[in-house]
Parts: sequence; structure tokens; C-alpha cells
Amino acid sequence: MNKEYYGKLIYELSRHGRRGASLPDNATPDALAAIPSALLRKNAPGLPEVDEPAVVRHYTNMSANNFGVDTGFYPLGSCTMKYNPKINEEIAGYSSFADLHPLQPASTVQGALEAYWTLQKALSEIGGMSEFTLNPFAGAHGELTGLMVIRAYHESRGDSKRVKVIVPDSAHGTNPASAAVAGLKVVEVKSLPDGTVDIEALRPLLDDTVAAMMMTNPNTAGMFEHGVKEIAEMVHEAGALMYYDGANLNPMLGIARPGDMGFDVMHINLHKTFSTPHGGGGPGSGPVGVRKGLECFLPEPRVCRRDDGTFAISDDSGESLGSISATLGN
Ligand SMILES: Cc1ncc(COP(=O)(O)O)c(C=O)c1O
Repeated sequence: MNKEYYGKLIYELSRHGRRGASLPDNATPDALAAIPSALLRKNAPGLPEVDEPAVVRHYTNMSANNFGVDTGFYPLGSCTMKYNPKINEEIAGYSSFADLHPLQPASTVQGALEAYWTLQKALSEIGGMSEFTLNPFAGAHGELTGLMVIRAYHESRGDSKRVKVIVPDSAHGTNPASAAVAGLKVVEVKSLPDGTVDIEALRPLLDDTVAAMMMTNPNTAGMFEHGVKEIAEMVHEAGALMYYDGANLNPMLGIARPGDMGFDVMHINLHKTFSTPHGGGGPGSGPVGVRKGLECFLPEPRVCRRDDGTFAISDDSGESLGSISATLGN
């Protein structure tokens, strides 16, 4: 850290007459005369006068003030901010991904579509689900999408009285928020002193007005929910679906699968368990998976593989939710 530059505003480094670059003087009297006088400034802008090395050193020193995963560990709520191997960033930055236009003809982006489709399939295998969409922009957006799928499922059966979502009191705030945004009513279920869902408190909440139960495992108190199998049986018995919030999937990745535990719909925060970057509210990615029978409700557009092995972007509405993100998501 260079003391000469550290902790100073760039205005404090200003020295009268210094310049970083010499630009051609294009402001001919004719050009100025063409601008209405009301729009002309009366005084020169108060910009700092600095040479190029001062600008470079100033901003380089400032960038060293950032605390991030490259400079140290940081937790964010209950979720895991993991280190992204640099090779993954490099691959994501290949021009064959980064320079594509989202509306480019599918025939010219077969490699990218294959990578996208393969990821949909890999996540389905990892989650024990039948199909995944990569469209949602973050975990919270995935929750909203998943709950919209659940709503669409109940509505498709003409079961419009299912308007409640049961959310444990340990849940992340996005769970009740997403339920409310999806137009559903939040019903809280208590936790036991050990931090896991109180099954006896859940029992009386289950009836034919419940659309879904949301669970996070391990939950936001850091505890593994040991009653998931029994809870899933009770919830299904009541005609409702099980939603898995995959923000904390890391500790069971490759060992246990939400689909095998009885969850019907789930999201995975790719910026937590996997390698997409996590910014303040984005760019993240919250793919949503569904069990067999719910695929038709997933959002469009989707990447599919044709019988001849080529890849296409499908956008046939049918029972789908329609679009929930710009084109195919982040
Ligand atoms: C348990 C849980 N659910 C949902 C979310 C929301 O995820 P995102 O930040 O990707 O919207 C988070 C993290 O913030 C979380 O920890």
C-alpha cells in the first residue's frame, strides 16, 4: 500500500496544470454555437488535475481496500460463500460463451446449448429430480419460480383452495417473502429447541388449503432436519407438495438427494454450492428442479435436445409458467 496515495481522495492528489491525456480540441466555435446557450455550462467542471500514474495508483490502491473471498473468508447469513477456482471463471469468460447474443440462431450456438442442456441434466441427477430450468436469477427467484410451479400444478387440477405455504420459523427470510410474492399465504411452523421442525406442531396445520411445505436442509440454524421422511409423508397425505430450499445443499452434495427424501420441487443456488459468481443481489443463478409430472409447468424458454442430437430452444407455452427471466437466465 503506497502511503502517498492511501486514504486520499483523488481531488486531494490534484495539482494545477497536470493532465493525464492530451485530447484533440474539437470544441470549435461553430460546434459550440450549435448548442443552445441555456445548455452550456458557465464554469469549467471541477475535475481533479492528475497525471496518468496518479490515476492508476489511486484506483489500484482503492481496489486493495475491497474485502472479498480472494482476500479472506466471509460468511453471508447461513449460506456458504465458497471460493470459485479461477479456471472456472476463465472458462465462463471464453468468448464462445461470453460474446454470444441471446437471440443468436440456435444452429450457431450448438456448443453453448449443449453445455446448458448437460448442466440441466447434471443438476437433475444431483437433486434426484426429473427436470431442471436454469432460468431463475438467484435463490429467492428460484423459490418464487418453484412456488409458481406448485401453484400452477394445483390449479391445473382445479384445486384452487390451496393457498397456504408452511414455512419453519428457522427459515431464511426469502422463503416467506417468495410465498407472499407468489400470492400464497404464509403459515409458520415452530422449531424444537434443537432447531429442527416440530412435527407435532406441523400436524394440525396440514389440511386441504395447504399448497406446499418449504424446508431447508441443513436448515439455517445449521441443523440437519432428521424428520424429513415423516414430514414428506404427512405433507403428501394432505395433498400438498414439498419444496426444498437448496441454499445449503453443500454438505449433502453427492451423498443424499432431495428428490429421494420426498421433495417435489427444489432450487439450487449455483453461486453457493457451485461456481457462478455471487454479487450483491446478482448475478446469481437459482435453477429449479421438479419431480416427474411437474416438468410441463417449468418456465420457458428451455433448452432441449432433438432426436437427431442437436439442441434447440423451445418456447411452446402449453401449461408452462412462461418467461421468468431475460431469455435463458444468467
Ligand atoms: C437458506 C437460504 N434460502 C434462500 C436464500 C436466498 O438466496 P439468494 O441470495 O441466492 O437469493 C439464502 C441466501 O441468501 C439462504 O441462505
